[in-house]
Amino acid sequence: MLAVLETMPGLSRLVQEELKNRNISHSIVYREDHCLYIDVTPDTAPLLRKLQTVNYVEVQLFEVDYTRDVKTLRQELRKKFREIRDFIREGSLVTFRFYEISRRLQRVILREAERVLKCKLVKARGDYVLSARFLFRRIRIFLDIGTFQPLYRRWYTRYKSRASLHPVLAAALCLLAGPGDFVIDPFAGSYTIPIEYCRMWNPRKFTCIDISYEFLSKGKANLGAAGEHIQERVDVLCGDFFRISVRDRYDRIVTDPPRGLRLELTEDFYSRMFSKFREICTDDVVIAMPVFKRTYNAFLRTCEKHGFKLVDSIETVQGGYRTLLVKLKLVH
Ligand SMILES: C[S@@+](CC[C@H](N)C(=O)[O-])C[C@H]1O[C@@H](n2cnc3c(N)ncnc32)[C@H](O)[C@@H]1O
Repeated sequence: MLAVLETMPGLSRLVQEELKNRNISHSIVYREDHCLYIDVTPDTAPLLRKLQTVNYVEVQLFEVDYTRDVKTLRQELRKKFREIRDFIREGSLVTFRFYEISRRLQRVILREAERVLKCKLVKARGDYVLSARFLFRRIRIFLDIGTFQPLYRRWYTRYKSRASLHPVLAAALCLLAGPGDFVIDPFAGSYTIPIEYCRMWNPRKFTCIDISYEFLSKGKANLGAAGEHIQERVDVLCGDFFRISVRDRYDRIVTDPPRGLRLELTEDFYSRMFSKFREICTDDVVIAMPVFKRTYNAFLRTCEKHGFKLVDSIETVQGGYRTLLVKLKLVH
């Protein structure tokens, strides 16, 4: 059975890592920078919903050869839609998403689907999302097996701060950082990284700092929704990270620093940040954070000056800006 795992640009390597960590057996069929086509069994397919680094999970229902003449194509589509009719009818709405497929073919698929499934086809989100992809001279029709909502819409999100991080990027940073015992996010906002980290790695303690009382207090609704087992691991401090006195030492720093400051290209900001990191980290610390591509050189210079080295990086997009997710360690 074929499944498509769709993620953010550049993150398919991390999805592979998460599959491995979660012991989901699969074999990669085809890989793009934001999609993985993998072979799974009907038993393991539902487990794919647990992946934190994907936006959508879809399983293949059938495929048809689109190079035939339109009449044969229609007949074949009708036959296939009939086979899945009962299954689809359990849902009230069916939404089609099309990828790399001509308008003419879209019309052919929609007409046959409407005729056979007698379903209401809507452009907006539906209970079931069918997607048609165009691959190797075939049209592949997939069914979304998420919670019928994109997986990046996390159930715990009750509040978003102005600059809240995309949860899939937050999960990607947590994967890059790996498991730690004492973890900190000094710019925690509405707790996206702390929640994703605790879901993935179960640390002993996760410390959250933010200068905004509003973000931290309204974001508590997210912590509450994420569950008691997460809430009880999280410590919250409201204040300026650069002035606050932090007594503990941390083996993981996973964070999303203020974007305005990062975009202004200031080595000064990174310099203050890295000196503070030195004060609060253990010798074997791992740091994971996003860096805008245009500030990357300034970032690297400052990071090296403060005794950190780059050990991994992945290019993606954050809020429309080319961004690198970086992993740093201390130079010994
Ligand atoms: C990019 S946002 C982080 C958003 C967060 N990851 C989320 O998903 O909600 C940066 C955060 O840094 C906080 N911040 C800015 N300057 C700070 C400082 N000096 N000390 C601590 N927090 C600060 C802002 O209030 C903001 O919430």
